[in-house]
Amino acid sequence: MNRRKFLHLSALTAPLLSVKNALANGFEGTTKPIIISTWDSGMPVNAAAWKVLSTKGTALDAVEAGAIYMENQIDCCVGLGGYPDRDGIVTLDSCIMDHKANIGAVAGLERIKHPVSVARKVMEKTPHVILVGAGAQQFALENGFTLESGELSESAKKAYAEWLKTSEYKPVINIENKKQNGPFAPAFFNDGTPNHDTMGLVAMDSFGNLSGAVTTSGMAYKLHGRVGDSPIIGAGLFVDNEVGAATSSGTGEEVIRICGTHLVVEFMRQGNSPEMACKKAVQRIVNRDKAKAKTLQVGFLAMNKKGQYGAYAIQKGFVFSVKSNNENQIHQSKFLI
Ligand code: GLY
Repeated sequence: MNRRKFLHLSALTAPLLSVKNALANGFEGTTKPIIISTWDSGMPVNAAAWKVLSTKGTALDAVEAGAIYMENQIDCCVGLGGYPDRDGIVTLDSCIMDHKANIGAVAGLERIKHPVSVARKVMEKTPHVILVGAGAQQFALENGFTLESGELSESAKKAYAEWLKTSEYKPVINIENKKQNGPFAPAFFNDGTPNHDTMGLVAMDSFGNLSGAVTTSGMAYKLHGRVGDSPIIGAGLFVDNEVGAATSSGTGEEVIRICGTHLVVEFMRQGNSPEMACKKAVQRIVNRDKAKAKTLQVGFLAMNKKGQYGAYAIQKGFVFSVKSNNENQIHQSKFLI
């Protein structure tokens, strides 16, 4: 199901879900296994991951499967179909982390379809944790990945051609359409342009182990070479199997500045619920520069070892998807401003 169709479906089911959300009262814990992922587009992503989790697969395999699903879609913001940088090149960022603090990441990867799987290979086959640009591509090719054409998807071509008319360098992501009513306002600008929705996933398997993955094409029309939070462990993703795990979506620079997901996990370690931990991390960004925070969006999503989960965003519009034996639905995140 493509993103637009999915958003349409989400809009139809929104009233029902919001009632359920109210009853859920803070997203109480659930049984393992469980997977949570950013955005409404996380629903089919969770379904792909659930095939692994529900057959006693590992959280690591599940988050990779979910990320691969998303990388196969033509989407504004994930995979080779995503929007390019200002030079017209799609560059992909991804990372993966397991319950033993094994980590792998790639940044600025070009023409390789599944950055999450390359990140996993970095984790499993090298003594390093991050490979970037040409080196990451070379490593991918040496490990059996195929070099794709590099041609933009039709939707990306159209959007890029439009952007080139002004070439205005004003990257703003995740300020959701505030004219849209209802809890699941889609991640589109008021003019209809899709904005950013990084796919971040966190799963707990039936053995109680946590893993996470993130995959993105990053900020549209970014400077060539720009790296966001998504491939940075501690920024876009952090897993501590004793405590919990967190991922983020939104303006990567702001997440990196506060080591966002590491901070969320540390707040959970101090006894905060996942939602409160995410709120405190958002508060840290907003307190630093409130005027600036009003112009951008960051959302954090977290799960603790009990399988309790929660999210918080700077602004309205951040949503996330949850799949467990008890539920399969989209939740609206609370927000600060
Ligand atoms: N959060 C994704 C990015 O900033 O690239």
